[in-house]
Amino acid sequence: MPQRPYVIDEMISAKSIAARIEALAREIRAEFDDTDKLVVVGLLRGSFVFIADLVRELDLPVEVDFLEASSYGDGMESSREVRILKDLRGQIEGRDVLVVEDIVDTGFTLDHVLHLLGSRHPAKLKTIALLDKPTRRETGVRADWIGFEIPDEFVVGYGIDFAQRNRNLPYIGKVRFTDEDALA
Ligand code: PRP
Repeated sequence: MPQRPYVIDEMISAKSIAARIEALAREIRAEFDDTDKLVVVGLLRGSFVFIADLVRELDLPVEVDFLEASSYGDGMESSREVRILKDLRGQIEGRDVLVVEDIVDTGFTLDHVLHLLGSRHPAKLKTIALLDKPTRRETGVRADWIGFEIPDEFVVGYGIDFAQRNRNLPYIGKVRFTDEDALA
C-alpha cells in the first residue's frame, strides 16, 4: 500500500504524559503496596515506552515481563482476531499482575489478553492504559487506570506506530493526511 502523505500535530506533550504517569504511579503504588510479587506485563510492541517510564515511577519490587499481541498488522482497522506472537516468560499463578497497554480502541486486544491471563489464575489482575478511545469500543473491557481519554483520532508516538513508523516520538501526536487538506 503506498504511503499517503501526512504530518503529525502534537496532541499530548511529553511533559503532560510524564506528569500523568507520576499521578498514576502513586495510585498503583497504593493498590499494590502490600505485595512483593507484582508482575508488570507490557503488551508489545506499543507499550514499550510507557512501561519503561511507568516502572521507573513505581518504587515497588516489580518483575517485568512481556507479551506480544497483534490485531492490526500494518493496517488501520482491527482484524478483530488477536494473535499472541510472544507469550510471557514467567508463571503468573498466585501473582499480582498489572497489564500495561498503550491504547484501548475496540478493546479486542485487552479483552483477549485478560481472558488468557485470567485463565492462569493470578491472585490479582489489573490493567492500565495510557490512552483510551471509549467511542470506538466494541467490547465491554475497560482499563482500571487510564492516562488520557481521547477522541477518535489517529494517534502516533510514545510507542504507538503508523505502519511501524513514529513509535519514537516523545509525545502523542495526531496524524493529519495532507492529501485530504489538498482536496478540501
Ligand atoms: C495496537 C495497540 C493496542 C491495540 C489496541 O496494537 O498497541 O495493543 O492495537 O487496539 P484494540 O483495542 O482495537 O484491540 P497492534 O495490534 O497495532 O500491535 P503493536 O502494539 O505491535 O503496534
